[in-house]
Amino acid sequence: MGDALEKVLVTEEQIKARHREMAAQIDADYAGKDLLLVGVLRGAVMVMADIARELHHPCEMDWMAVSSYGAGTVSSGVVRILKDLDTDIQGRNVLIVEDVIDSGLTLSWLVGNLKSRGPASVEICTMVRKPLALDLDIDVKYVGFDLPNEFIVGYGLDYAEKYRNLPFIGTLAPHVYQ
Ligand code: PRP
Repeated sequence: MGDALEKVLVTEEQIKARHREMAAQIDADYAGKDLLLVGVLRGAVMVMADIARELHHPCEMDWMAVSSYGAGTVSSGVVRILKDLDTDIQGRNVLIVEDVIDSGLTLSWLVGNLKSRGPASVEICTMVRKPLALDLDIDVKYVGFDLPNEFIVGYGLDYAEKYRNLPFIGTLAPHVYQ
């Protein structure tokens, strides 16, 4: 990685241990119920693949791709669907899987959108939550790590589409994005 990274915030081992704990909690919570995991492309690919493989509970997996209107690095809260679910979620238990909740605006919109389709339940699982998301009234049932408001990359999180494939979460050196 050269000097692009500043420091490692969460190691690969910490991530593995945490998604095992989260999967055990999900297994317990959904015992005897159907479960549909909905991954939000593209960042959630890693966490979806890892948590799904740790689950003992049978589940289905589907994907959505959404995009905030407007350019820039901050969510506008107005979202458009680039790829919708292939699954009819009426009566289903939906668990949205995200890599990061930053402002929380994408998730608030997504939860509202999915709830309007008549599911039995909609819950959220994210590997990383940033502090701003705590101000919004969204109930996140499964949180991997609460991290400070720094420019983080790795484990699905990108900067200009790079660094998603890092197996750990780290901060980017300021000279990369300034
Ligand atoms: C990221 C992340 C969430 C959203 C969170 O997606 O996967 O969907 O931002 O931001 P918010 O809480 O401020 O709304 P991004 O739009 O970067 O796309 P990506 O998953 O393809 O990286």
